[in-house]
Amino acid sequence: MIVILLGYMASGKSTIGKILAKKLNYEFLDLDDFIEASEKRSIKDIFETLGEIYFRKKESYYLSKILSKSNNIVLALGGGTPCYGNNMEMLLQHRNVTSVYLNATIKSLVNRLENEKEKRPLISHLKTKHQLNEFVGKHLFERFQFYNKANYTINTDDKNENEIVEAIILRLF
Ligand code: S3P
Repeated sequence: MIVILLGYMASGKSTIGKILAKKLNYEFLDLDDFIEASEKRSIKDIFETLGEIYFRKKESYYLSKILSKSNNIVLALGGGTPCYGNNMEMLLQHRNVTSVYLNATIKSLVNRLENEKEKRPLISHLKTKHQLNEFVGKHLFERFQFYNKANYTINTDDKNENEIVEAIILRLF
């Protein structure tokens, strides 16, 4: 099985994914890390030098490459992955894939993103917390229609990391 974790930037996809993979004895992959290693450039560098469209094409290409693997994997997507091309359809149609949306409130996302803006090209230009709040609110509103198609949704704000992992495992088996 390939367990896909999706959700907005800073929703905990990588952190939760690592714990979940360890617990299930699955391989853990992070799509952003996979892209960086394959392209031999950081995401920030790809956005700056080759542009977002190039990034989105590569993101889709590497996603399909990972989906063709037959071993057990927990895969953390990038925040935008489900929202471009036919990526979400690709996940929903794949017989071996179960997708889980990690749903966090705007408030908690903004609090986490405030200190992690630099490596994220879409928000690194935002100067104040107010601007970040406005951006995330609007962006999440646009993206929710894609995230909401995941097989399962886990609300994360009222749970610690272990509780989130347990809630995912309950849905999976
Ligand atoms: C993006 C999220 C990032 C990364 C890129 C674009 C997005 O991943 O893929 O900066 O469009 O939301 P994280 O969600 O891991 O930060």
